[in-house]
Amino acid sequence: MSLPNPNPDARAVVTGASSGIGEALAAELAARGHSLILVARRGEVMEKLAAELREKYGVEVEVRAADLSDRDARGPLVAELAEREISILCNNAGIATFGPLTELDPGYERDQVELNAVAVHDLTLAVLPGMVARRSGAILMVGSAAGNMPIPNNATYAATKAFVNTFSESLRGELKDSGVNVTLLAPGPVRTETPDPAEASIVDKLVPDFLWISSEYVAKVSLDALAENKMRIVPGILSKGMSVAGQYSPRSVVAPIVGTFYKKLGG
Ligand SMILES: NC(=O)c1ccc[n+]([C@@H]2O[C@H](COP(=O)([O-])OP(=O)(O)OC[C@H]3O[C@@H](n4cnc5c(N)ncnc54)[C@H](OP(=O)(O)O)[C@@H]3O)[C@@H](O)[C@H]2O)c1
Repeated sequence: MSLPNPNPDARAVVTGASSGIGEALAAELAARGHSLILVARRGEVMEKLAAELREKYGVEVEVRAADLSDRDARGPLVAELAEREISILCNNAGIATFGPLTELDPGYERDQVELNAVAVHDLTLAVLPGMVARRSGAILMVGSAAGNMPIPNNATYAATKAFVNTFSESLRGELKDSGVNVTLLAPGPVRTETPDPAEASIVDKLVPDFLWISSEYVAKVSLDALAENKMRIVPGILSKGMSVAGQYSPRSVVAPIVGTFYKKLGG
């Protein structure tokens, strides 16, 4: 199996394309010849990236500035994608919060559920019928190692990523022999930018440099895994360690240990 062949009429959609892993996925897809639709809120940042990718790789790049946590703002994009030939969907946009739920902003927690889980569901429902009808398509779901375990002080994020992890691995079982690939990217920490030492988080301080993986590396191995229709890609030693610990340790044992660590992230 492989990714759908690049085609000037088809588009690969990347959500969260204005920074980090999404920006790297967009660049890697363009380098492989795919024309793109970039989605995030910051339109001007994506226009700059789009110009660079058109110039460097000669692909078509469209920008859709939309707040995916807002159902009304998301609706027109969902409707548009349902009508277009979407060859690849990277459900990547996501946010996280740290700390006890009662101390967090309830509105932002709801937005997190909308963005990390409901928008992923909506966008997948929009593009999947066309992919199945064409017997060609590929969906990369960006979950997290955090979705494998209960994480006190990161409850909304861990729960939304549990949704993505399970949705991805369940859906791919339905799509066997359909011509549509579905792969879950479930990383641990990915260094999306070099931290300012004055503002480095506890994770930045604790994890030695050689254990960090870059967004560019994650994008490349994730698209390779999607082309091979792997069930799950967990890039890097640290991610693999977290993944195994989270999946195979009793949840009652894991929860207090990771909860103590994440309490420090909550500040
Ligand atoms: N980095 C890690 O260590 C790590 C580990 C495991 C999983 N992940 C997952 O990987 C994905 C990407 O993470 P990242 O580290 O690359 O994050 P990032 O650099 O913060 O990028 C997040 C992207 O999502 C977009 N976004 C945020 N809120 C949005 C909204 N309401 N509507 C539309 N787009 C929105 C942002 O763009 P705008 O601000 O322009 O909207 C940005 O492009 C996330 O799903 C994250 O949970 C990351």
